[in-house]
Amino acid sequence: MKKFLSIASILSILFSASIVAKEASSEKQAKANVQFRKAILQLVRSNMGPLGAMAKGQIPYDSEVMMTNGLRIEQLSYMMEDYFATDTRKFELKTDASDDIWENQDDFNSLALDMADAAAKLQKVAEAGDEANYRKAIGSVGATCKACHDKYKTD
Ligand code: HEC
Repeated sequence: MKKFLSIASILSILFSASIVAKEASSEKQAKANVQFRKAILQLVRSNMGPLGAMAKGQIPYDSEVMMTNGLRIEQLSYMMEDYFATDTRKFELKTDASDDIWENQDDFNSLALDMADAAAKLQKVAEAGDEANYRKAIGSVGATCKACHDKYKTD
């Protein structure tokens, strides 16, 4: 009976740990994970670039671009929770991700969802042809980058 209990408690520890974060099982896996999460953020950047230029008036107002890029940023935001679920802290990797991410996953994920919300609002503003508010809506997306980077990006 004692033996059974100890197995049960070990299982429950393992199980609860996997809810918080799953540790990368090898350096190879951790490296691949870093590559994938950076790829998501590079795509976010590539879609944010034209929006930033539009907000600054460097390129003309274009509601199609706002809708397309807003939708892409929204979708990429939803991927972040999964791609940041793997805890890679154990390995020496080229990454700017703060160790705090895996101590505060709920907070991190909610900041990713803030980006999704701001990107969804931008699509609405673009769809409505609301030229008075598009700069502000783009700025709100940009603010969600900064909010997360200030807390969870180390460079
Ligand atoms: C919820 C948090 C979060 C949000 C929101 C976020 N980022 Fe990041 N970003 C990170 C973290 C963490 C890293 C570091 C990843 C790493 O090095 O492993 C990063 C890295 C990057 C990188 C560098 C990727 C590389 O190849 O090293 C770029 C570019 C970037 N983010 C752009 C953006 C832009 C643009 C936005 C907003 C439109 C944004 N991010 C929103 C957390 C976030």
